[in-house]
Amino acid sequence: MAERREHWATRIGLILAMAGNAVGLGNFLRFPVQAAENGGGAFMIPYILAFLFVGIPLMWVEWAMGRYGGAYGHGTTPSIFYLLWRSKLAKILGVFGLWIPLVVIIYYIYIESWTLGFAIKSLVGLIPEPPPGAQDPQSVLKPFKEFLYNYIGIPKGDEPILRPSPFAYIVFLITVAINVFILVRGISRGIERFAKLAMPTLFLLAVFLVIRVFLLETPNGSAVEGLNFLWTPDFEKLKDPNVWVAAVGQIFFTLSLGFGAIITYASYIRRDDDIVLSGLTAATLNEKAEVILGGSIAIPAAVAFFGVANAVAIAKGGAFNLGFITLPAIFSQTAGGIFLGFLWFFLLFFAGLTSSIALMQPLIAFLEDELKLSHKQAVFWTASIVFFSAHLVIFLRGALDEMDFWAGTIGVVFFGLVELIIFFWVFGAQRAWEEINRGGIIKVPRFYYYVMRYITPAFLALLLIVWAKEYIPKVISETHWTVWVTRFYMAGLFLFLTFLVFIAERRRGDEED
Ligand code: PFF
Repeated sequence: MAERREHWATRIGLILAMAGNAVGLGNFLRFPVQAAENGGGAFMIPYILAFLFVGIPLMWVEWAMGRYGGAYGHGTTPSIFYLLWRSKLAKILGVFGLWIPLVVIIYYIYIESWTLGFAIKSLVGLIPEPPPGAQDPQSVLKPFKEFLYNYIGIPKGDEPILRPSPFAYIVFLITVAINVFILVRGISRGIERFAKLAMPTLFLLAVFLVIRVFLLETPNGSAVEGLNFLWTPDFEKLKDPNVWVAAVGQIFFTLSLGFGAIITYASYIRRDDDIVLSGLTAATLNEKAEVILGGSIAIPAAVAFFGVANAVAIAKGGAFNLGFITLPAIFSQTAGGIFLGFLWFFLLFFAGLTSSIALMQPLIAFLEDELKLSHKQAVFWTASIVFFSAHLVIFLRGALDEMDFWAGTIGVVFFGLVELIIFFWVFGAQRAWEEINRGGIIKVPRFYYYVMRYITPAFLALLLIVWAKEYIPKVISETHWTVWVTRFYMAGLFLFLTFLVFIAERRRGDEED
């Protein structure tokens, strides 16, 4: 029966914690790269459609499922799916809601630690200088590229082992410790309080950086040209299915949907508290942080310094290229650059931190709710598993990308579809709809009933089929051993979590006897 669980203390705290969950590295590093790679302005059309037809409906569904589970003492999907659908399959599918956040946190927290490391290095002036007189992007960026490569320890040749600097490793330890420090205090005293401090800070930092970037003016261009590029649609691009896939993928990632993490946060909402307006507010805050702030820093700055064509080429080199190489290079050439670099990385660190705690919480909640560990024990074991597993990403080249693909890209779309089917088709459309609207300050427009029941699931299913056709042959024909090691490790984690779910079930069975 319902057990005593923690609750969010205030509505503003809940909204900020949820916004903190969503606003992360994805907003400031992933979004600008996706937009630049996928046609700039043309990307915004599928992006906005994906927000309206995938993001918003799934967001309400996750909030509703989480709140429903919380009322019965459950904060993670193995049990919540089982409440909605009394079947073994529900439990197994629910394991994905533990596995996805676990796999993602393993690399996410490591990247987050780089932002802290770079913030520290910027503050003490240990960031390189561009070579004097250098003009072309290649030579300006060279020392910064070497700096990043040394930090993560990317070998010159194609050896598979990374050799990060000792500093990088120590900062990684500190980052894990900071996460533990917040999480150990629990939902309202830890996560909620931190979000109330971090979210306004993050917002101010981002606004300040946007203003600073807009004042940049070089012979090569200006930030306004960068914005023009981001906002001028090229309708031809819409014929390319990859642009649509990228837009949907970005919506999942940025809104933390299909990870199980929103569900866990929502499980700490009181049964009759509003979710309709609060959910919409948190999602809207994320979109503002992404489109307005995230879109107005990295790309406009890169365009101002290197022109549109070069900026696009840089973005195509990936999220790390833009955020960890190009931006520090640009800031180092402007007045007060050291400090700007610090602000940029500190912004990223705060954004990452409010997200990484959200990625850890599902496993913590599971260990507490289902295996009856104390809160401290649950945090300790979760952090230990994450810490141990992260070594794969720290030392094995390619592990990060492989994990991001399976868990953070395909996995979330699959899991989002599973959620919709279980809630609207197995549990029942009418009940699901009532569950979403219960206690709502506003009502969800009826239109969304049909979206959630038919349109979103059909669209996600189609996407998965298209994907499977494209990727299955590639996946099977992969021969590099590092990729297979990563895949086996991920499969091992899945089995481990399934085993824990099995133990939890036995325990419960014993108690009921
Ligand atoms: N939404 C986060 C970002 O944009 O960086 C990523 C994320 C955080 C996904 C927390 C899932 C999650 F539970």
